[in-house]
Amino acid sequence: MIKIRIDLAKNSYYIFLKNNIFNYVAKCHKKNYPGCRAIIITDNNVKKFYLTSFTNNLSKNNVKFNSYCVFPGEKSKSFHSLENLTDKIIKKGVNRNDVIYALGGGVIGDLAGFLSSILLRGIKFIQIPTTLLSQVDSSVGGKTAINTKIGKNLVGTFFQPSAVFIDPNTLITLPKKEFLAGYAEVVKYSIIDDKLFFNWLNKNSKDTFNLKSENIYKIITTCIKKKAKIVKLDEKEKKTRMLLNLGHTFAHALENELNYKVRHGEAVSVGILMAMKLSQKLGYAKKEDYYVLENHLKSSKLPIKLKQLSNNKNWQIKSIINKMQTDKKSYKGNIQFILCKGIGAAFIKKDIDTNLLKKTIEEFYI
Ligand code: NAD
Ligand code: GLY
Repeated sequence: MIKIRIDLAKNSYYIFLKNNIFNYVAKCHKKNYPGCRAIIITDNNVKKFYLTSFTNNLSKNNVKFNSYCVFPGEKSKSFHSLENLTDKIIKKGVNRNDVIYALGGGVIGDLAGFLSSILLRGIKFIQIPTTLLSQVDSSVGGKTAINTKIGKNLVGTFFQPSAVFIDPNTLITLPKKEFLAGYAEVVKYSIIDDKLFFNWLNKNSKDTFNLKSENIYKIITTCIKKKAKIVKLDEKEKKTRMLLNLGHTFAHALENELNYKVRHGEAVSVGILMAMKLSQKLGYAKKEDYYVLENHLKSSKLPIKLKQLSNNKNWQIKSIINKMQTDKKSYKGNIQFILCKGIGAAFIKKDIDTNLLKKTIEEFYI
């Protein structure tokens, strides 16, 4: 088993990485939280594959549990499902010693994490991420959120989990498109500060997409260690942590424009390419960096153009830019961008000329 520490003073915790992890999770619960109930939040897809396996192990260890299920997809990151879930949990009975388990992808992690942070003014919460995206990114670092009509992740908290249990074998049942969406976040990490990792990803993508165990373990541990280092420096995203949002100011606006009917990771794929294009236009990155990144995303079958995110959307530049201005990273309407001085060299930049931004986005129309 691999164990990685997220070092955050009194909010520190461990991430455990192991195949067939449910028995271990149940044993840890029994040992660390004797007599406390496990409250499992999952979605209908994940329930089908993993809920019984988890609850059988809890029962074997005499742990009492309740499980709650939401519809799969981004729409569940809403006030509506938050209210529904909290009502159900409170009606069944919950106390501050109970532990909430988020069993699923980033949507479940963000929603269950937010709920845990406000229910009874905060109850313990553990992540069991089952998508590549949630295993490399969203389960680590304590960002929780739901969306509002105005924008993505605009209501949320920083609330660290007590532990994260990752079973890479769960990726076997994950649809290919979902795996690829998570892979966009993996590429993001390499663009931020690790050209060697990018080159390795580029060279080894065939084995990675065939879920070669060695590759999957390397990818998950590399990304988590990178995130752990950044979150340790800047847990509440005052500065350095913003680097992790490379491509996300674009991506969040695109997701909102499409009413969240697009995978987050697919929007991130176009978003990181837009960030690289903007960096190139401003003279920070070379054309070659842009083409190498574009080729890798393209050959990975990730979207690189707006029309690949939606065939029938009539994209309006003004509306995209308005959405970018409501992003959490903007300050008084001034958008803070993550740009790159080439692959592996991201940095934060304010005061981007709106015309240049428009021209950048326009290049992604066709
Ligand atoms: P998701 O949670 O919607 O999961 C994708 C799909 O895969 C869903 O249909 C789900 O039911 C299904 N699924 C999950 N695990 C499965 C498995 N093992 N086998 C079969 N099907 C499975 O999406 P996601 O890509 O995991 O997460 C995206 C969300 O994460 C977005 O809302 C994004 O904003 C958020 N996010 C949060 C952070 C953070 O730091 N908190 C970071 C990045 C992204
Ligand atoms: N996914 C960005 C962050 O956790 O900060």
